[in-house]
Amino acid sequence: MKITKAVIPAAGFGTRFLPASKAQPKEMLPIVDTPTIQYVVEEVEKAGISDILMIIGKAKRAIEEHFDRNFELEAELAEKNRLQELNDIRRISEIANIFFIYQKELNGLGDAVNYARSHVGQEPFVVLLGDTIIDTDNSQSITAEMIRVYEQYQAPVVLLEEVDPKKVSRYGIVGGTMIDSQIVEINQLVEKPAVDQAPSNLAVAGRYILTPDIFECIDQTPRGKNNEIQLTDAMQLLLKRRRFYGLKLKGVRHDIGNKLDFVKTNILYAMKRRDMGEAVKKFIKEIAAKLEH
Ligand code: UTP
Repeated sequence: MKITKAVIPAAGFGTRFLPASKAQPKEMLPIVDTPTIQYVVEEVEKAGISDILMIIGKAKRAIEEHFDRNFELEAELAEKNRLQELNDIRRISEIANIFFIYQKELNGLGDAVNYARSHVGQEPFVVLLGDTIIDTDNSQSITAEMIRVYEQYQAPVVLLEEVDPKKVSRYGIVGGTMIDSQIVEINQLVEKPAVDQAPSNLAVAGRYILTPDIFECIDQTPRGKNNEIQLTDAMQLLLKRRRFYGLKLKGVRHDIGNKLDFVKTNILYAMKRRDMGEAVKKFIKEIAAKLEH
């Protein structure tokens, strides 16, 4: 069955990014001048999907407004003949058909995904964390690559990233066998395992293609780590019913909910920009030299 729907959970408290995330969503934190969640939506668009459901929470209205039209701003830009900005602003509201649903209590990622049940119906769907940007080495949309794996195996697929074996307890970790250089057939999924109990150092990296039977699995999932309904635990139940695959990421994952990653990603993206890259590189060299003395 063709994948036509994407779900972007963006309701979390973002406690790792306080105080900035107290009254504004971390998913709206900009990387240079573009909110994180816009990069995520553009990844979906590049994969040919135009139906997006966002799961949002309290203080998340800014996300709705960002993807809606702003007629006053458009009129202002038109009057000042600032046509490039006008085009950019309009394009954001034309990217996709975006629907919103409120997660009433923040009971974890598994619970957030459960809100997509009636929207996705009986179709497979892709889940993208709203605070995670994925850059692939070949500049392709990772969602598009994952859809190809789904089409080949007709089974759920998660994106995997190799992490420092000492840090596995921060992630959902999989066990399984490599069936080629990039694809793992998964036989175990465990949320935040202790270092000596982790089945590997392959972490689930914020992108998932799931089949609709995940919803029954979420219903059967008790609260797990952090007293939350963990998507990883629900996927472990799904694994008992179906084959399950992982695609190893060739590229970089940016977790914007983590302050250090946020700062690094901003520097990296600013350096890559045509309009400011050289100036930023020069500035960084200068301050690095100054701070050494
Ligand atoms: P995180 O694991 O980063 O959790 O969520 P969090 O609560 O947002 O942030 P911290 O750990 O307290 O700093 C990963 C993604 O899942 C969404 C978040 O918005 C984020 O995009 N999420 C998480 C929900 O939508 N609902 C939840 O109940 C939990």
